[in-house]
Amino acid sequence: MSNEKFYVTTPIYYANDVPHLGHAYTTIAADVVARYQRMMLGGDNVYFLTGTDEHGAKIAQAAEDNKLKPQEFVDKIAADFQMIWDRLSISNNDFIRTTEDRHKEIVVDFLNKLKEAKTPLGNPVIYEGEYEGLYCVGCETFKSEYDLVDGKCPDHNKEPEPYKEKNWFLRLSDYGDKLKELIESGEFKVLPEIRANEILGLINIGLKDVAISRQTLKWGIPLPFDKDQVTYVWVDALSNYISALGGPESDLYKKFWPCDIHLMAKDILKFHATIWPAILLALDLPLPKEVFAHGFFTVDGQKMSKTIGNVIAPDELVDQYGTDATRYLLLSQFGFGTDGDFSKERLTNIYNAALANELGNLVSRVLAMTDKNFAGRVPKYNVGYDKFFEFDLQTDWNRYDVYMKSYQFDQALNVIWENVRRCNAYIDKEKPWELANGHKDILADVLYNLLETIRQTAIMSRPFMPEISERILMQLGFEAEKELAKSIEDLRKWASLPLDQKITKGEVLFPRLENENNKDK
Ligand code: ME8
Ligand code: MG
Repeated sequence: MSNEKFYVTTPIYYANDVPHLGHAYTTIAADVVARYQRMMLGGDNVYFLTGTDEHGAKIAQAAEDNKLKPQEFVDKIAADFQMIWDRLSISNNDFIRTTEDRHKEIVVDFLNKLKEAKTPLGNPVIYEGEYEGLYCVGCETFKSEYDLVDGKCPDHNKEPEPYKEKNWFLRLSDYGDKLKELIESGEFKVLPEIRANEILGLINIGLKDVAISRQTLKWGIPLPFDKDQVTYVWVDALSNYISALGGPESDLYKKFWPCDIHLMAKDILKFHATIWPAILLALDLPLPKEVFAHGFFTVDGQKMSKTIGNVIAPDELVDQYGTDATRYLLLSQFGFGTDGDFSKERLTNIYNAALANELGNLVSRVLAMTDKNFAGRVPKYNVGYDKFFEFDLQTDWNRYDVYMKSYQFDQALNVIWENVRRCNAYIDKEKPWELANGHKDILADVLYNLLETIRQTAIMSRPFMPEISERILMQLGFEAEKELAKSIEDLRKWASLPLDQKITKGEVLFPRLENENNKDK
């Protein structure tokens, strides 16, 4: 195993409402990254963080609406998030909550240090001033006229609130040149490229200083040097990526910082690509290596919203399709960097076509033929028969690695399904049921090729569908846990499926589903 390490994060989601499919989307993607990297680097060398963002005006309002104390309210929502992550097999190493003492201590430490720090131009990083403007509580951010459509925040369809307060400011305007240089040189990667261009555009117009405290709000971390003010929720929230490790002095920090990738959607890239690196530069801490902003999705062509009534709860999908299928369905429909659409109707069709028919059927057919013709044992293999399986898999692994490392999950899944389809086409061509009459030696080779390709497909699928992957290995006769403890090199070696191994036909992997939407057509 190598000494490399990998640290991946999701945003910490606002604890103002129950988890929705957007949160699940990013978190499943991060989980796929973490599981892939664990396979490559070993479990100890990967750290995967998610959590909840529990301070600020938005949360205080939601708690009030629910007639609960803010802390009681966020305790409940944080538990909801943890529950759905369990159901979705999310393998996070930690779950950070910004109301935890371990987090607040680091934020206070950062603020004290910022108070003493100087910008690259020699000015104090933070200063006191007066802010007058407009604030969108939904975004937890100040808005300029240019951000508004018909006087409203386009993301929240609401007029921002007039705002006038004494605040402390972060001198972001002094960091434009430095950030530009770091982004352009690739030292601080902002991806996909179109997003880097957006950020560079903002820098070219000129970054504005941001208020980092609020006077009238009570629900937040008090500024250590001005107890009348609480910390601006974004400064509080962004610090989670380091507070969760235990702060800059901790062993986890020393092992895992700088972060390899912060994942998020494009809505919050600006905070991660300007405020966060500026804070880190001011604290003299290394920047994350990469921030990646995926697209926004719609449901049946519309923005998910309670008023439209098209909100899909992650629980609903797990109830209907199961955990692994939900993970597959969410990541296979469109590219990770682009916007996309989920159609409720199409999901069942895709489930039936790709999972039940193509993958599920392949496994059950091949195991049934092995059972029938070779008493359920992996048949003896004539090395060299239809060698294209072996060659194709070699190039497939290379392509798969490229896609996984560049977060093109739909493409990585496509490689897996090319394998599945190759197997199905091979069965149609070789007609094993005919070979069974008098050509058992050829049948043995055909089935071995299929069984071994299925084994490798299970390994490839593992980051996406951890449970299905183990079940396939078990059906092939492995003790899944023991098998998966092997090195990735060994797992990828052609023909490591032991001859004569006893297979065990198991339950159907993906039971076919009735498509509710097609029923009455
Ligand atoms: O912004 N499509 O939290 P948040 C894709 N607390 N992704 C979506 C989505 C959609 N329709 N809707 C939501 C916050 N997301 C802050 C973050 S981090 C230091 C603080 C996902 O609850 C996507 O990851 O509003 C997006 O960036 C995130 O949810 C916003 O979550
Ligand atoms: Mg949001």
